[in-house]
Amino acid sequence: MLNFELYNPTQYVFGKDQTQKLATLVPQNAKVLLAYGGGSIFKNGVYDQVKAALDGFEVIEFGGIEPNPRFETLMKAVEIIREQNLNFILAVGGGSVIDGVKFISGAVNYEGDPIEILKNRVLFTDVTKVIPFGTVLTLPATGSEMNSGAVVTIEATQEKLTLGGSALFPKFSICDPSVIASLPKRQIQNGVVDAFTHVMEQYLTYPHDAFLQDRFAESILQTLIEIGPDVAENPTDYKLASNYMWCATMALNGLIQKGVPSDWATHMIGHELTALYEIDHARTLAIIGPNLYRVMFDSKKEKLAQYGKRVWNIEGNSEDEIAQQAIDKTVAFFHIMGMKTRLSENTENYQETADFIVNRFEERGWKALGEKQNVTIDKVKTIVEMSY
Ligand code: NZQ
Ligand code: ZN
Repeated sequence: MLNFELYNPTQYVFGKDQTQKLATLVPQNAKVLLAYGGGSIFKNGVYDQVKAALDGFEVIEFGGIEPNPRFETLMKAVEIIREQNLNFILAVGGGSVIDGVKFISGAVNYEGDPIEILKNRVLFTDVTKVIPFGTVLTLPATGSEMNSGAVVTIEATQEKLTLGGSALFPKFSICDPSVIASLPKRQIQNGVVDAFTHVMEQYLTYPHDAFLQDRFAESILQTLIEIGPDVAENPTDYKLASNYMWCATMALNGLIQKGVPSDWATHMIGHELTALYEIDHARTLAIIGPNLYRVMFDSKKEKLAQYGKRVWNIEGNSEDEIAQQAIDKTVAFFHIMGMKTRLSENTENYQETADFIVNRFEERGWKALGEKQNVTIDKVKTIVEMSY
């Protein structure tokens, strides 16, 4: 097993009617920026719950954080916090609002041009330099409620870039599965596939000796397979909703990643498809992931076979056959979850995509990705072309 440190300071508050605990979770005398997205919180009652819990606090509201949050929008919130000397942020929304708030949190006191945070992948490690924040999660998918990473898009250059660091964990996250009841089916489907792929990125690498981490990962995958199709059809079923929410958090709160290699190439390529065509994040993963497993088959086949046997109960004549069937099963699951797994089914202008992405990676100096750094530029090109 690889050496590791486990640090996760987020107070995770799970269950029905937990939003009222904001009254004690938000520091007394805090001057709060309440950040939210396009307005779903006004329709499903979450806004009212939050406002009731924050009665007596000084609150300034900032709405309009887009799905795939934009640097340009977030900078407006940075200005408000600076001008009004606010000292706490509450993110109420899905991954986009939470990620946006992580950027805002780091940018307020950043000395230098804030765009560097994204362009240079600045790491925030000093908690005294960031604005503390908590979250009320409304969409289980990204794990952003219990991790310290974020993804932000620069509108001007159509670039989707990451930021993070140990100072950017939420202080607390309120996770009430009842919020799933108001989610459009498409977003639930996205959430399940995003969480599933997060596990795959940290599991589907090569055989190693971290047995427990493999079992953690497999159990999350099995649970998502078990409940995913049902929760998309029955979002008011609390049993399904609660399992879905906890799976999504556990898929990317750092635990299953400890002591093991991880891949993340599917995400890095997928982010480009969102930046170029605004395809939902999870849907880019469903397009790229299976083709990455195909192109990197020799490198990943032992783990693919393990996944096929343990997660899908596949019995085949050879390890290679089981590994191949495991990819097919994954694609079939994505289809059940409403994904269209070809790029051409998601956008019309796909012909130049591979060349565009390859050029971008070269410009950024990204020569190779993946757990063995063997997803080279030519492999990226093949993966994307195979996805047309
Ligand atoms: O903006 P509002 O009006 O709130 O509507 C949102 C949005 O339109 C809606 N929604 C959220 N909760 C709802 C709801 N509608 C009804 N009822 C509710 N309870 O859903 C839409 C999508 O929301 P968004 O936050 O964009 O989705 P998601 O949570 O999937 O987040 C995606 C973003 O997270 C990033 C992605 O790249 C993408 O930008 N990721 C962040 C990660 C992280 N921080 O660790 C990891 C992921 O791999 C991912 O890259
Ligand atoms: Zn993701």
